[in-house]
Amino acid sequence: MAGGGDMGLSNGKKYPGKLTRKVLVTCIVAAMGGLIFGYDIGISGGVTSMAPFLEKFFPAVYRKQARDAGTNQYCKFNSQTLTMFTSSLYLAALLSSFVASAVTRKYGRKPSMLSGGILFLIGSAFNGAAVNVAMLIVGRIFLGLGIGFANQSVPLYLSETAPYKYRGALNIGFQMSITIGILAANVLNFLFAKIEGGWGWRLSLGGAAVPALIFIAGSACLPDTPNSLIERGNHEQAKEQLKKIRGVDSVDREFNDLVAASEVSGKVDNPWANLLQRKYRPQLTFAVLIPFFQQLTGMNVIMFYAPVLFKTLGFGDDAALMSAVITGIVNCVATLASIVSVDRLGRRFLFLEGGTQMFLCQVATTVLIALKFGTSGNSVDLPKWYAGLVVFFICVYVAGFAWSWGPLGWLVPSEIFPLEIRSAAQSINVSVNMLFTFFIAQIFLAMLCGLKFGLFIFFAFWMVVMSIVIKLFLPETKGIPIEEMAGVWKTHWFWKRYVAEDENTTPNGGMV
Ligand code: BGC
Repeated sequence: MAGGGDMGLSNGKKYPGKLTRKVLVTCIVAAMGGLIFGYDIGISGGVTSMAPFLEKFFPAVYRKQARDAGTNQYCKFNSQTLTMFTSSLYLAALLSSFVASAVTRKYGRKPSMLSGGILFLIGSAFNGAAVNVAMLIVGRIFLGLGIGFANQSVPLYLSETAPYKYRGALNIGFQMSITIGILAANVLNFLFAKIEGGWGWRLSLGGAAVPALIFIAGSACLPDTPNSLIERGNHEQAKEQLKKIRGVDSVDREFNDLVAASEVSGKVDNPWANLLQRKYRPQLTFAVLIPFFQQLTGMNVIMFYAPVLFKTLGFGDDAALMSAVITGIVNCVATLASIVSVDRLGRRFLFLEGGTQMFLCQVATTVLIALKFGTSGNSVDLPKWYAGLVVFFICVYVAGFAWSWGPLGWLVPSEIFPLEIRSAAQSINVSVNMLFTFFIAQIFLAMLCGLKFGLFIFFAFWMVVMSIVIKLFLPETKGIPIEEMAGVWKTHWFWKRYVAEDENTTPNGGMV
């Protein structure tokens, strides 16, 4: 497990506490929230490449695809209705994250997690039983509402529960279960697509009920976080809870700091208006930029459309689904690398290394696709070795994402917000993430058709921009207790002008 060493020295604070079994199990159970998100990401791309599904719900796309078999490969899947199926979910998630913010703050992290699981379960029933496009879309809206709640509450739950030294590793449990969800969906699509009679897609879509039930059962058993219990006035319960998860009795220092943070938080009537205050400018900036950049890495082009993309490159039906399984495995395994390194190497190192790796792979993929397909996009027979090379670069790219922007896109926002703005700011993070996931899902097929191989260059450009922003503006947050995070901005060359050193602040950095 990661961590240890000389961490927790910011502002001189160190709290006693170990990585107990209790905290480990609690975090693993909470992280299951990522399963529903991941399952959905993985399932939609595969289902939309299954011919019987297309024929039943999107006959125009089906006919176009069959007709265009030999012509322009870049454009054959371009259909706004088809992409609407994938992306409707993200708009619903965007909206529900705002409702989730109020629930998470007023009633605790746990009710939000439970609501997320239940809404997702309803969505899976609609989708598995769908007889028309309307039912499909309604189902996806419910799934999206569930994801909005889960993604709002789970990362906060993990960052608040974990001892600060292991916060990175434990929070990345969320991303780990996202990738397990994606992989499970990819494997199931591969198997269900083979079912005679062509109804395998029903199992793929209805199968979303399984991660939903796991998440519901898990979150029903979890206690709420000490931070949230204190925020809602349950001090005694919070202290007991803190002792249990830290595995020591001497939790007074941490407990008192949590109470102080909560007193500041209690004075805030409207966290939304509060967010706009000058002293929260760094947090607000990253609540918007991190999810925006995470989506502009282009990762979801691979996640949603890998089978379609591989088919476009001339792989057969089976080979296309199989390649998606391969990228799914790489995504999952490479996430482990970030779990073991994030609390040692730090967030900045992973962001910058992963960013460089992804950039190089995007350039290589562009060159390979351009050489074979040119701008006409006319179909060619890809030699096996050539196709293998494309898959190789796509896998190295996926690994880069899996140990940088993937997990850090959820970890960093959840650890930089002070309690008084935490749930509101996390909603901004989720909604910006969903908005740009929506854009990528909605416009990718049209972009592929219009930009051709230049599509990857578009994302490569953004990789350069985001790496520069991280290098210059994101301070390191590893090993710093969550309610102590304000200090990192006060000493940062740029942000210190927003967060004055001499302000009279509480331990959590809020004004008194
Ligand atoms: C992102 C998703 C992405 C997934 C891939 C997550 O962190 O938010 O958009 O599909 O990682 O593993």
